[in-house]
Amino acid sequence: MDRVLRSGWLTSGPEVHAFEDEFARAVGADFAIAVNSATAGLHLAMEVLGIGTGDLVLVPSITFTATAEAVLYAGAQPHIVDVDRSTYLMDPQIVLNFIKEECELRERKVIHKASGKILRALIPVHLGGRPCDLEGLQAIADKYDLHIVEDAAHAFPTRYKNRMIGNVSEITAFSFYATKNLSTGEGGMVTTNSDKIANRLKRLRLHGIKGQTWGRKRWKYDVVEQGYKYNMTDLAAAMGRVQLMRTAEMQERRHAIASRYRDAFQDIKGIQIVKDPEGSSQHLFTIEIAPAAKMSRDRFVEEMYARGIGTSLHFIPLYRHTFYKEMGYEPGNFPASEDIYKRIVSLPLYSSMSDDDVEDVVFAVQETFESQK
Ligand SMILES: Cc1ncc(COP(=O)(O)O)c(C=O)c1O
Repeated sequence: MDRVLRSGWLTSGPEVHAFEDEFARAVGADFAIAVNSATAGLHLAMEVLGIGTGDLVLVPSITFTATAEAVLYAGAQPHIVDVDRSTYLMDPQIVLNFIKEECELRERKVIHKASGKILRALIPVHLGGRPCDLEGLQAIADKYDLHIVEDAAHAFPTRYKNRMIGNVSEITAFSFYATKNLSTGEGGMVTTNSDKIANRLKRLRLHGIKGQTWGRKRWKYDVVEQGYKYNMTDLAAAMGRVQLMRTAEMQERRHAIASRYRDAFQDIKGIQIVKDPEGSSQHLFTIEIAPAAKMSRDRFVEEMYARGIGTSLHFIPLYRHTFYKEMGYEPGNFPASEDIYKRIVSLPLYSSMSDDDVEDVVFAVQETFESQK
């Protein structure tokens, strides 16, 4: 921080450049482009892929509004699909069913029959840091000529098969928002292995100006297209670099806490623990209040609150929010999401949690279930 303040480069400068290099290396991508949020990154991804008016983009029901909002920024239409009941993630079979049942092929284009819009892309969300079935989704994308933009807001560092998320699809957007595994307060990163995409992203994130501000030695600059004010500051990047160096240590702690929770709750019949595969970033620790529990999820949340423990919910399905409801979605068309939504709750999980904090959560959960017997 000190170094940045003394350098005089408070906006995008050498720290951003170094953070981009280091982040690209961490995920094995050829290029990383720093932005001021994942939302900005997803929006730029739409723009770079030429997705706009008349286009449709599939997003999963269980995500934050940013995933769909970014599609709207670009003038395209997000279309919400149900998720897999066990993983809560976008599922190849559900995507395929959507294409087969609700679309038709015209001149190699996938046209959504109800809206007349052209299906152009999928935005799988690696909820909680659990990787989606990218191979399955890519096979569909290849067959129907679709783009995949990964919403990896929760997925640093997540491994999918033998690769890191950030080095799998055409474009991936990460978030460094305050609650994320790596945080710069507000911030994001877009990764790609295409130099063409990387160059356009760099230009669009800063007013459509050709070349980087900090590399510019003279007064001269050229605006070559309409861009956005989406650049990251050197202050944020300096924070990110320190966090990046601490990734292994912070991840170890997250996994240790999750493992303690799993051990403590495995015998409680009313709890079902969401399975995080090996490579998950374990961004969240989500449990389901199962039918065997003698209480509802809402009751559980209240009981925990009464014991001084705050919980969270990731996420209220998009179609349940007023804004998306007004687009005509019916909860009945999302059976998996509805069942998930009724039952899920995320327990506190962050790398700076002390052992005492963790035991307080464990005790509160155990006591809550005891009290309901
Ligand atoms: C799944 C998901 N996507 C996108 C975002 C947006 O990230 P940002 O706040 O960096 O724009 C979030 C933020 O919480 C998120 O949870």
